[in-house]
Amino acid sequence: MSEEKKLKPAVLWFTGLSGSGKSTISEKVYPALKERGYRVEHLDGDAIRDIFPSTGFSKEERNAHIRRVGYIASRLQAHGVFVIGSFISPYQEARDFVRDLCEDFVEIYVSTPLEVCEERDVKGLYARARKGEIDNFTGISDPYEEPENPELEIDTTDITPGEGVRMVLEYLENRN
Ligand code: PPS
Repeated sequence: MSEEKKLKPAVLWFTGLSGSGKSTISEKVYPALKERGYRVEHLDGDAIRDIFPSTGFSKEERNAHIRRVGYIASRLQAHGVFVIGSFISPYQEARDFVRDLCEDFVEIYVSTPLEVCEERDVKGLYARARKGEIDNFTGISDPYEEPENPELEIDTTDITPGEGVRMVLEYLENRN
């Protein structure tokens, strides 16, 4: 990416299954934008749920959670902040709600297939979900609605996190 091109602060919304690579790529996009001088905020599902542990995983609870964080994202972006959001956000209606709130919403579908996410099982959650120890687990006992028209799709099966970051930066650089 050339240092000269001024990027327009947007809400970069990473959606995908647990273990798909959303947080890993997001965590690397954050410093990449920071070092280019942008104001950046990263909102991450796990981190926000640690602070508000009563947020559940039913469809209603997930959608309310996404509307809340989406609103915050839209306000930050309105003040010139690049916002990186990494949330499973499995329902199209909630993602569309956030898209409508935001002046500039970039939906990034981290489309790594379930088999790969489950094989990775970094947090051991898929194994627990298969044993029935976790209810409403996305991809196992709860739905994930694939984005209908994402601005960018990244399948991390065969790429490094750095390549994922490069795809995001190239998209931002080349869009109108
Ligand atoms: S959502 O669907 O957008 O409200 O979810 P999000 O806020 O991103 O939180 C996802 C993280 O919660 C952990 N976890 C679960 N995920 C999915 N389904 C169930 N039932 C569940 N229970 C706990 C998990 O660590 C998710 O983190 P990621 O980073 O996606 O792996």
